[in-house]
Amino acid sequence: MRQIKRIILVTGTPGVGKTTVSSLLASKLNATHIDLTELAKREDLIIGADASRGTLIADTAKVAKRVQGIINASGRDTVIDGHYAVDVIPAENVNFVLVLRRDPDELKKEMENRGFEEEKLQENLAAEILDICLWEAVSACGQCKVCEVDVTGREIEEVVEEAIMVLKGKKKCRTGIVDWLGKLSEERRLRDFFRNL
Ligand SMILES: Nc1ncnc2c1ncn2[C@@H]1O[C@H](COP(=O)(O)OP(=O)(O)O)[C@@H](O)[C@H]1O
Ligand SMILES: [Mg+2]
Repeated sequence: MRQIKRIILVTGTPGVGKTTVSSLLASKLNATHIDLTELAKREDLIIGADASRGTLIADTAKVAKRVQGIINASGRDTVIDGHYAVDVIPAENVNFVLVLRRDPDELKKEMENRGFEEEKLQENLAAEILDICLWEAVSACGQCKVCEVDVTGREIEEVVEEAIMVLKGKKKCRTGIVDWLGKLSEERRLRDFFRNL
């Protein structure tokens, strides 16, 4: 009988490390890695550009169709990386959703280094603090498939090892592991992150 292959989604706010982690994770699992941002650009699966944010807008329906084609042809496990990964695969076909989390201060530095537009930077930080990707993952796929991994201050190897332990069931799959909102509120620093919104 043909063995059923797993579909693992890796989501999170831009800059948390999805592509870096997914690439190593896929190579360790001998899985196919699909980077949704790169795929949409490479194959022109784009609706338009958002000039104020300096980003391209992917055509989610076209991306979904293409991703399904890659999965069907691959015959291996698939690691799909992108902040909208939960929108391109039917929930019933998803085995795990890994939501990478990164402390807002570290994420801010990362986005500044990558030259994010100010508006996009503020928006992404707010999204990380408010757990947007986590809630999108839970509402799309259900809490039991969603596992958070905190990457803050950690080596990529270490993060990938943790992800593999979770996938193997050797480490508990959990949500609610970080509370950036509570932390910043306690430190009276919320205004630093939300003043421009
Ligand atoms: N755990 C980590 N610790 C430090 N830097 C990291 C970590 N994960 C990723 N990075 C770095 O952060 C940047 C953003 O990573 P990337 O994988 O492109 O994020 P994403 O795909 O989520 O936008 C890259 O320069 C990468 O080398
Ligand atoms: Mg990426």
